[in-house]
Order: sequence, then C-alpha cells, then structure tokens
Amino acid sequence: MPVEIAGVEAGAIEEFVRRNEREALKTLFNFNVVWHEQRHDFAARDGELVVGVATIRIAASLAHVERAIVLLERRRAGIGRALLERAAEVANYYNCHKMSALVPHRSAAQLFLERCGYKEEAVLPQHTFKLDVAAMRKFLL
Ligand SMILES: CC(C)(COP(=O)(O)OP(=O)(O)OC[C@H]1O[C@@H](n2cnc3c(N)ncnc32)[C@H](O)[C@@H]1OP(=O)(O)O)[C@@H](O)C(=O)NCCC(=O)NCCS
Repeated sequence: MPVEIAGVEAGAIEEFVRRNEREALKTLFNFNVVWHEQRHDFAARDGELVVGVATIRIAASLAHVERAIVLLERRRAGIGRALLERAAEVANYYNCHKMSALVPHRSAAQLFLERCGYKEEAVLPQHTFKLDVAAMRKFLL
C-alpha cells in the first residue's frame, strides 16, 4: 500500500513514538528495554568567566561526549581533562560502563582523548564531513 512520506515537526510524531517505542526497542534489542535518556552539561569557571564547557548524553548505559570546548587562550592547562573527569563521575553515578566520543581520525582531539585515557575503538571511513572518524571509548568499570 503506497504511503506519503513527509518531513514534520518533532511534536507531530511524539504521540506515535510514545505509543510504539517500547515495542520497537524490545524488538530492536531483543529484550525489555527501559530507555531513559539524559543530558548533562558542565562548565569550567574562573570566577565569573566560563572558560570551558562539556556536554554528555547518557542512554543505554553509555555516556557519549557530545562536546568539549575550552577557550582557545586557556587550552593545555588541564581544563579539558577536568571537564571529562567530572563528566565521567556523573556517568559512573548513572551506571554507565563506558564513555564514547567521535572525533576526526588522527586529529588533535584524538590525541587529547588518548591522553585522557580513551582508546580508538574503530575508524569510520568517510563519515562526518566525509572525513574518517575515530570512535573513541573509555571503560568506566
Ligand atoms: C580538545 C580540547 C577540549 C582540549 O582541552 P585542553 O584544556 O587544552 O586539554 P588539557 O589541557 O586538559 O589536556 C589533557 C591532555 O591532552 C593533551 N592535549 C590537549 N590538547 C592537545 C593537542 N592539541 N595535541 C596533543 N595533545 C593535546 C594535553 O597535553 C594533556 O596531556 P598530558 O597532560 O597527559 O600530557 C581543546 O583543545 C578544544 O576545545 N579544542 C576544540 C574543540 C575540540 O576539539 N573538542 C574535542 C571534542 S572531544
């Protein structure tokens, strides 16, 4: 039966998702999934000034680093590592077994993550902006 596919506002699919997602996740993962997604933001402050921020998204026992940014003039002073360490504490509190991040392969960000204890898990060819991307991870448990 032909259907029409249309782009819609997020609100337009909420009810459908609320009714059907539980079954869909159960089918997808082949067990009863309780999906509780959270986002946590962190700021590094020097007095009133925010010198760095980080955001993680937690779902399914995994904490994904969505962003980590340190002011250009405040880099290489331990702020980025401190942000990720605080993020890992929160992830650990919510029983995450693993942190993950996607960064351009062999980039400065990959070196930073490696210095923070992350390992290269895979390289995704021609991914973001058609660049090879390193999937990085750090186990917490
Ligand atoms: C990546 C970024 C967050 C690092 O922040 P930072 O405060 O400079 O990092 P830190 O000073 O805490 O560095 C932690 C470790 O990583 C290393 N490191 C940091 N930046 C590095 C770089 N560009 N090249 C190589 N190593 C680097 C540091 O030398 C340090 O190692 P060591 O102390 O064990 O010798 C910052 O450069 C930034 O905002 N970059 C632009 C955005 C970005 O790439 N974000 C990464 C997303 S995961």
